[in-house]
Amino acid sequence: MPVATAIAHPNIALCKYWGKRDLALNLPSVGSLSLTLAPFSTTTTVEWGAERDELVLNGQPGTAEEARKVFAVCDLVDSWRPRVRVTTQNDFPTAAGLASSSSAFAALVLAACAAAGEKRTLEQLSVMARRGSGSAARSIFGGWAEWALGERSDGMDSHAFEIAPVDHWDVRMLVVIFDAGPKGVSSRAGMLRTQETSPYYSAWVASAPRDLAEGRRAVKERDLNALGRVMERSALRMHASMMAADPPVLYWKSGSVWAQECVRGLRDQGVPCAWTMDAGPNVKVLVNAADAQTVADRLRCVADEVHILEPGGPARLVP
Ligand code: DP6
Repeated sequence: MPVATAIAHPNIALCKYWGKRDLALNLPSVGSLSLTLAPFSTTTTVEWGAERDELVLNGQPGTAEEARKVFAVCDLVDSWRPRVRVTTQNDFPTAAGLASSSSAFAALVLAACAAAGEKRTLEQLSVMARRGSGSAARSIFGGWAEWALGERSDGMDSHAFEIAPVDHWDVRMLVVIFDAGPKGVSSRAGMLRTQETSPYYSAWVASAPRDLAEGRRAVKERDLNALGRVMERSALRMHASMMAADPPVLYWKSGSVWAQECVRGLRDQGVPCAWTMDAGPNVKVLVNAADAQTVADRLRCVADEVHILEPGGPARLVP
């Protein structure tokens, strides 16, 4: 039976994706920018030809909803496919706002195409990963990746691409965890509610292209102060749009605000650093590699765990 295993790293968006212009094709309303992060990873094995479609996620059977999404992506690889067995393992908390779906679908499409003997370009893999989860489009690539908004109605130009390689800039992303439980509202449900009910959603979409252009430039110029301003602005505008939804989508907890204050305090003392937050209460902090330990020690006063992550490589097959 053809079998393949792939590993992918999660990514954290510096300029956020929030909202869809096409639900079926999972096309975004805004372009986004991210950093792929090691050593956190997802390892996925696909057996192409099994007795029945089966998903095992972190040693447990996947839920019906998880299975539906995973097998829909396998259908994209080959609509006449045989039954498949997918075994996937995250080495970090699943569904805690740490973008586990980004690494999951990137590893899945790579392993599924290899097991099926289907050759695809990185851009085609990114399009397929996007159909599973938007942020996964970016995890096909290592280092600094942009996910283009695209113009085509079939979505084939809405894929990620690398804007700078993994060794471009020696930074660290600190993942500050004070709540590792599953999130209350999934990012998918949260963004749909935002676009359907928030009066601030259109302002968020209108503001995103400028943030993306500034973020891209700051990455290329390795300007942490400029990137930090864009990161925090993009995260705050995204969260403001969802907080104004009806009912509100509110991921923040007291720990989120403490961590943000801690980052501002460090910055006032001359340590360049900036925070971002996704669909969960945990906070991620971007710093120069040389400052990572000092900043992590300070954040440990307000958090249960602080992980120091570094720029990670692209999704890859395990020989
Ligand atoms: C806040 O990629 O999880 O992390 O496409 O519906 O699966 P779906 O959404 P998902 O959303 C990620 C949202 C975010 C911002 C980002 O990663 O850009």
